[in-house]
Amino acid sequence: DKGGAGKAADAGKAAGALTIGFSQIGSESGWRAAETKLAKLEAEKRGINLKVSDAQQQQANQIKAIRSFIAQGVDAILLAPVISSGWDEVLGEAKAANIPVVLLDRQIDTADPSLYLSAVTSDTVEEGRVAGRWLVSTLAGRDCRVVEIQGTIGASLVANRKKGFEEGISTAANVQIVRTQSGEFTRAKGKEVMEGFIKAEAPGTICAVYAHNDDMMIGAIQAMKEAGLKPGSDILAVSIDAVPDIFKAMADGDANATVELTPDMASRAYDLLAAYKKDGTQPPKWVQTPSTLYLPDTAAAEYERRKDLY
Ligand code: AHR
Repeated sequence: DKGGAGKAADAGKAAGALTIGFSQIGSESGWRAAETKLAKLEAEKRGINLKVSDAQQQQANQIKAIRSFIAQGVDAILLAPVISSGWDEVLGEAKAANIPVVLLDRQIDTADPSLYLSAVTSDTVEEGRVAGRWLVSTLAGRDCRVVEIQGTIGASLVANRKKGFEEGISTAANVQIVRTQSGEFTRAKGKEVMEGFIKAEAPGTICAVYAHNDDMMIGAIQAMKEAGLKPGSDILAVSIDAVPDIFKAMADGDANATVELTPDMASRAYDLLAAYKKDGTQPPKWVQTPSTLYLPDTAAAEYERRKDLY
């Protein structure tokens, strides 16, 4: 009997001959860049011919890329969908061409789940819950006015990260979101949004910031510092992704917590595609990645461990 590693190695071999098209959203965050990097690296290890198309945040570009992959007759398509709606037609075309599609890191809204083979994502509601629960436990009964920096509006995970956080803080009536705005998952926008929050709120009244990703938090940290505030102590900072820079910020005392989203989504997709192509093995519809909370105590070590991987 072969152990997990043996099986994975076989799957890797079977994937060897595959040509896979990857419609990637863009490079809005450090997390996204790491996901692309790992997708390429893992493809190379397996001898997969990976074609990556960068959509520059535009769904229209993703639809074009998928049509081009279909025309090229690829063996499979990976799709990281920038927003959740509007995929039925093009995924119907992929299905008609018998090309399996695996969703990466975000889900889609569809009444027809047969349009994709599997989705590799985290539980994005749970990510928000983990962040919210951490805040409530840290406050230990204190009141807290929270500002929230959301990701790209229309993306499946943004509504979920909001909902989860609200659930996480629902046990504490004195912890409330007082302002919320999209920072589009980028550092520059995160900074801009935080500057706006600081101006709009009376001095000293923001107690915590929750950002839907670390990059926006890095921008927000910059904004707080420029306003003469101490992020991490004057204003608590919790976000999602676990990229190296947030560990650096935590080690420096500028941030307090992050919830990990692994950027290694593609290797899971390659493995299930290899098995599916080999003998039709049906993968689970949802391959769930973990949502682990990280705190400053391990930040320096985590930074060292991750800095070259990303
Ligand atoms: O879909 C995953 C999200 O997209 C990450 O949390 C964020 O950094 C990225 O841009």
